[in-house]
Amino acid sequence: MNLQIRLAAEEDVDAITRIYNHYVDCSTCTFQMRRESTEDRLAWLRAHDAEHPVTVCDHDGNVVAWASLSPWNSRCAYAGTVETSVYVHHDWHRQGLGKKLLVDLIERARNLGYHILIGGACTEQVASIKLQESLGFSQVACFREVGRKFDRWLDVIYLQLALD
Ligand SMILES: CC(C)(COP(=O)(O)OP(=O)(O)OC[C@H]1O[C@@H](n2cnc3c(N)ncnc32)[C@H](O)[C@@H]1OP(=O)(O)O)[C@@H](O)C(=O)NCCC(=O)NCCS
Repeated sequence: MNLQIRLAAEEDVDAITRIYNHYVDCSTCTFQMRRESTEDRLAWLRAHDAEHPVTVCDHDGNVVAWASLSPWNSRCAYAGTVETSVYVHHDWHRQGLGKKLLVDLIERARNLGYHILIGGACTEQVASIKLQESLGFSQVACFREVGRKFDRWLDVIYLQLALD
């Protein structure tokens, strides 16, 4: 497979939005319930500076997955902590892309000098939890029934990885 992980560009926003909106519609991996427009995602991408990279997995010129590092909390004392996100196009699951992107993101976070990575996951999201655990993240918090989507209450766990 001709796969390349690279920084996202504005031309990638349509593909990033399409990948994400699939999960808005049908999954509890995101608690967002309204589909995003390309403009929403463009604003999101522009808000991600060099210290908060957005990456894509490019397969022969097509974006098939994306990942990001986002601020965990805007208060200054949290500056050493960032949150990871990884979304793989639903046709591309279980081919190693999620792991490749998260490994790359961890390396970028280390090079940027971050101390702690945080990943959140609805407890239903076995793939997300297993992926993170496979790379050393471990659960540090569980919040019961803090979300509601598809007419059911949802629990959320947080996992973290210390980089130094
Ligand atoms: C979670 C997600 C990113 C995994 O991506 P993927 O490319 O399918 O996963 P990979 O093929 O890289 O799998 C890596 C490891 O994750 C775990 N994993 C992935 N999918 C899994 C599943 N359905 N069930 C159990 N474990 C799973 C396994 O440990 C796997 O290693 P293995 O294949 O050697 O067993 C993908 O399912 C996705 O995009 N889900 C929706 C978005 C989401 O939940 N994002 C949060 C992730 S941090």
